[in-house]
Amino acid sequence: MHSPRPAVVARAPGRVNLIGEHTDYNGGLCLPFAIRLATTATVTPRADDQLRMTSTEAASGDTLWQRYVVGVVAELRAAGWTVPGLDIGLASTVPLGGGLSSSAALECAVATAVAGLLGIPLDADTRRLLAGACRRAETDHVGAPTGGMDQLASMLGAEGHALLVDFADPGGPATTPVPLPVTAAGLALLVTDTGVRHSLADGDGGYAQRRRECEAGEPRRLRHVTTENDRVRAAVEAIDDGEWDRLGALMTASHASLRDDFEVSVPQLDLAVETANGAGALGSRMTGGGFGGCTITLVAADRAAVVREAVDAAYAERGWANPVHHLVEPGPGAEVLSTAG
Ligand code: GLA
Repeated sequence: MHSPRPAVVARAPGRVNLIGEHTDYNGGLCLPFAIRLATTATVTPRADDQLRMTSTEAASGDTLWQRYVVGVVAELRAAGWTVPGLDIGLASTVPLGGGLSSSAALECAVATAVAGLLGIPLDADTRRLLAGACRRAETDHVGAPTGGMDQLASMLGAEGHALLVDFADPGGPATTPVPLPVTAAGLALLVTDTGVRHSLADGDGGYAQRRRECEAGEPRRLRHVTTENDRVRAAVEAIDDGEWDRLGALMTASHASLRDDFEVSVPQLDLAVETANGAGALGSRMTGGGFGGCTITLVAADRAAVVREAVDAAYAERGWANPVHHLVEPGPGAEVLSTAG
């Protein structure tokens, strides 16, 4: 009789960046956190060396997500792991392409499931190694020149904590968990998805262009990076001191810098930020690469509904489709859920 083939299930979260945008590929600081929306990967070894994948999310004809998976397996093999052929099943609650790092969640879920399959413990070093492999899957296999923040947040995020990442550390990105007790402080973190979609996997797109401008030392772009690093440091202090108004002000200043100096905002993001602040939020900013995607707003828990409604009304007034809101909180990083046979 055949024994059942072992299957491993793992989950990896999307992320929101609280502050510190377009700093990762500039050797700077960022402060993301893992959210509860996540991708689940089920991997089962095959007798041959093929990769077969199915996804509950995939729009027919869209095969980009498969390149992320192929890239992750190739990078793990390049790191010396003996990865067999696999059947891979994927399901996700992270909105695709919506600025919450659906791609990092996908990559990290597959990498974590493979680690589980090979019996490799998920200690901090392994998590770092997987984050690096997943970033290279994205940059070298898919052609999205991203900076590494998303995969670190997904792999190393911790319940109730943001993750301070310092990309200047010569030993590789240094990560420090920062307790983020927003709920205990009577606050909420509201993510507003503008519905404007962007692609980072576009070599001619704005993201790649910004990277080139930073490499070329364009003063206006670098002014954003320098002031943003200062804001991240100040944000960590504000959080430590429970100075939530100050954190909110830093978030709004970050948005202004991304809009005016770095020029990666769009009118839908600007309107969401201005309306949220006008409706009594402590602060608000675009989060992620920009050119669409989401805002993150810090607001008193009992005002979150008022802010949502105000943003919806502002969009309706311009004839724009309703944005989608998510209340988010810092959740755990990637984990193996089961290794059942
Ligand atoms: C995207 C990239 C990240 C980072 C942000 C901007 O999310 O994937 O690496 O560069 O943009 O902060």
